Amino acid sequence: MTILVTGAAGFIGFHVCQRLLQRGEKIIGIDNLNDYYDVNLKMARLKNLSAQNNFTFYKIDISDHKQMETFVQENLHINRVAHLAAQAGVRYSLVNPYAYTSANIEGHLSILEACRTLKVKHLVYASSSSVYGANQKLPFSIQDPVDHPISLYAATKRSCELMSYNYSHLFGIPATGLRFFTVYGPWGRPDMSAFIFAKAIFEEQEIPVFNHGNMQRNFTYIDDIVSGTVACLDTPPSALLNADPKCVPHRVYNLGNNQAEQLMHFIDTLQKIIGKKANIRFEDIQPGDVQKTIADISETTRDLGFLPKTNIEEGLQNFVTWYRSFYAV
Ligand SMILES: NC(=O)c1ccc[n+]([C@@H]2O[C@H](COP(=O)([O-])OP(=O)(O)OC[C@H]3O[C@@H](n4cnc5c(N)ncnc54)[C@H](O)[C@@H]3O)[C@@H](O)[C@H]2O)c1
Repeated sequence: MTILVTGAAGFIGFHVCQRLLQRGEKIIGIDNLNDYYDVNLKMARLKNLSAQNNFTFYKIDISDHKQMETFVQENLHINRVAHLAAQAGVRYSLVNPYAYTSANIEGHLSILEACRTLKVKHLVYASSSSVYGANQKLPFSIQDPVDHPISLYAATKRSCELMSYNYSHLFGIPATGLRFFTVYGPWGRPDMSAFIFAKAIFEEQEIPVFNHGNMQRNFTYIDDIVSGTVACLDTPPSALLNADPKCVPHRVYNLGNNQAEQLMHFIDTLQKIIGKKANIRFEDIQPGDVQKTIADISETTRDLGFLPKTNIEEGLQNFVTWYRSFYAV
């Protein structure tokens, strides 16, 4: 089995590659190594992966269909795909909207076309909890309507789900979308809260806390996300007992913690682990942000055996240990 992992130099892609390599899979990684955040962090992740035997890397922009077509013709033995490359981040989609249509719409289409040519056994792709937009009903369930995105990022992620459904319908591509909820952990993204808060606490800088701290998130530890992603990769829609063979082989799942944390508790835990006090500046909620996310993971547990195991005390301790060592602080 050869697995293509897109976004291999990214936070989640890197960890998914590590886990798959540990169990002996052959991995082909793709990433364009863009500078949305510190490229050195992406290069450091890639260096770790490239030191391992079964890992091959291609620097490719997935929105470049010609380059993708050439890549596919050279790698016709790929039979599963974990598509994690994207332009991530809600707030940046107000600043640079075209980065989102390029990576998340054009790029996603290239991956669907690649899967069509490769006749893959399963495509697993990253969606996002942000598709729930302004929904008031909690917890967020995959049965809920998701027609009101409140950021362009969310609109592109919802588009990925619709395009994938269409390709599954037209070409029978077994595909599953995972709606990730706020992921954190070692090697994490510098634009996300755990990283921003830890950096500010270490450097004694002010922390902007939006909606005056009145936020709740399903902070989900990276190892739990990887376990869910790999379990999903191993379970194409057709393998599920409750799947009707006449149905379109496409599904979506929530992948996140079912325990919501108060943002202020998250910051308090970080302060205790780092041993320094945070200097907090309270601000209004940002456009495109949601106040509360809570995941209903009943289908994910039923079909994929997914149950998050890591509490934030343990997860943040691991994150801070990595941060201290990587940045020598
Ligand atoms: N981290 C989270 O909390 C979270 C939450 C919801 C959804 N997601 C989704 O999960 C996936 C992985 O997120 P992440 O946190 O690892 O983000 P990340 O930014 O660390 O990783 C994405 C990787 O994709 C690469 N990439 C971007 N555009 C590309 C292109 N056009 N061609 C090739 N490579 C490209 C980037 O260089 C990066 O290394 C993304 O699809 C993201 O939208 C993440």
